[in-house]
Amino acid sequence: MRACASFVLDAAQRPQVRGEVDEIARTLIAWGDDPGAFVRQALGVTPEPWQAEILALVARGEKRIAIRSGHGVGKTALEAWLVLWFGMTREGAKIPATAPTAHQLNDLLWGEIAKWRGALADRLPELAGEISIKTDRVEFLPWRSTAFARTSRLGQSEALQGFHAENLLFVIDDAIRNPRS
Ligand SMILES: Nc1ncnc2c1ncn2[C@@H]1O[C@H](COP(=O)(O)OP(=O)(O)OP(=O)(O)O)[C@@H](O)[C@H]1O
Ligand SMILES: [Mg+2]
Repeated sequence: MRACASFVLDAAQRPQVRGEVDEIARTLIAWGDDPGAFVRQALGVTPEPWQAEILALVARGEKRIAIRSGHGVGKTALEAWLVLWFGMTREGAKIPATAPTAHQLNDLLWGEIAKWRGALADRLPELAGEISIKTDRVEFLPWRSTAFARTSRLGQSEALQGFHAENLLFVIDDAIRNPRS
């Protein structure tokens, strides 16, 4: 499958993982269509029912999903799970991620990505080691996928422009603010 071809090719060059390549490739193929299974099995977390519903919508191929909810319920964590899932199960994926402030992007969303990459490392260290988290991007090395951090305020869409790829996932954290809040 295209999504995993480059990972298998790269990994096969490395003696320490060669023996596990077939199994890992099979697992990634299965997860590619099932973000809920990825979250539970790769990250070891049980989604809340509403998070599981969103993951099911993504699995069904829903193109646009908006989440409106209270504070601290797990929106950013869900975004981080999807960033990791998309970057690891697609080849050459691009994942532009925006939030209104650098704090929301770097401290919160990137913080959640780091947290859940750590959870992945507990289960699949050989895969977690292939994900490089930098200030402004996350590189999924063997898959040649990248997540990009871009601050963007409501009404400014430049941060999301100019990205082209067959596999494209936009993550927009806190895009709509209640003007009275
Ligand atoms: N299903 C889950 N299981 C365990 N921990 C979770 C789960 N969902 C979220 N968390 C954790 O709960 C905390 C709060 O989640 P998160 O920051 O994603 O909420 P939020 O909805 O984005 O909050 P805010 O409204 O402040 O933006 C984080 O530490 C996150 O990792
Ligand atoms: Mg949040």
